[in-house]
Amino acid sequence: MEPEIDRGAARALLAFWRSAGVDMDEAEAVYAAPAAAAHAPVPKPKPRRAAPAADSPIEAARRLAAGAETIAALREAVAGFDGCALKATARNTVFADGAEDAEVLLIGEAPGKDEDQAGKPFVGRSGQLLDRMLAEIGLSRQSNILISNTIYWRPPGNRDPTPGETATCLPFAERLVALMRPKLLILTGKAAAHAMLQREDGVLKLRGRRLAYTREGLAAPVNAIVMLHPAYLLRQPQQKRLAWLDLLAIETWLDELGVQRVSRP
Ligand code: URA
Repeated sequence: MEPEIDRGAARALLAFWRSAGVDMDEAEAVYAAPAAAAHAPVPKPKPRRAAPAADSPIEAARRLAAGAETIAALREAVAGFDGCALKATARNTVFADGAEDAEVLLIGEAPGKDEDQAGKPFVGRSGQLLDRMLAEIGLSRQSNILISNTIYWRPPGNRDPTPGETATCLPFAERLVALMRPKLLILTGKAAAHAMLQREDGVLKLRGRRLAYTREGLAAPVNAIVMLHPAYLLRQPQQKRLAWLDLLAIETWLDELGVQRVSRP
């Protein structure tokens, strides 16, 4: 019989060792029980400690996100949210594309020009590369992956989103994870990794490792892995070797998690 784990105590111990500078990522992944994550009830996010003012955009985003009980409702909540200034200059809200009942969720950074026009994430050059990469490991937005971003409106001139814009949109991305409870959360690029994992390590350190996405109020940690962003690979093609290793690491984990895939093209 499996020994029973006191997850609260385990998490506190991991946090203690992490604060002492010890790398605890592999250990966290061990207790990121996928089975529990797949069946636990969807929790309402609890308010955080350093609460922003009740009328702040972040608080409004949290309230709206918490009120969404389905992914469709969350999509509507994002579309109706006026608290992020980026919406004023964007053509479309870009929320998510793919299979809403998928076991895999991929989160990137922010829409660019093509995504802004289409109202869908990852449809430009980097999106086409992403689709080809995912197809190599049997993932397709037509059937078994949902693709979203941490920001839902194109930053003007494709500039980096500000920390304020990221914080304002984050409750929606967090709610998406809570509603979907994916067996695997793939974070592509630095911005998504930092926002979702709440850590500042370089993406070259984070990529390809078995990590755990945790949030207060989430019944169980969610398996998470970081991969290099396809736009970075278009700029730095010599890094495709690392991207290939990331894909292999994801494929191995998907196999272990029993995630259904489509046959390769
Ligand atoms: N880059 C991203 O991170 N997301 C998109 O939707 C498009 C490009």
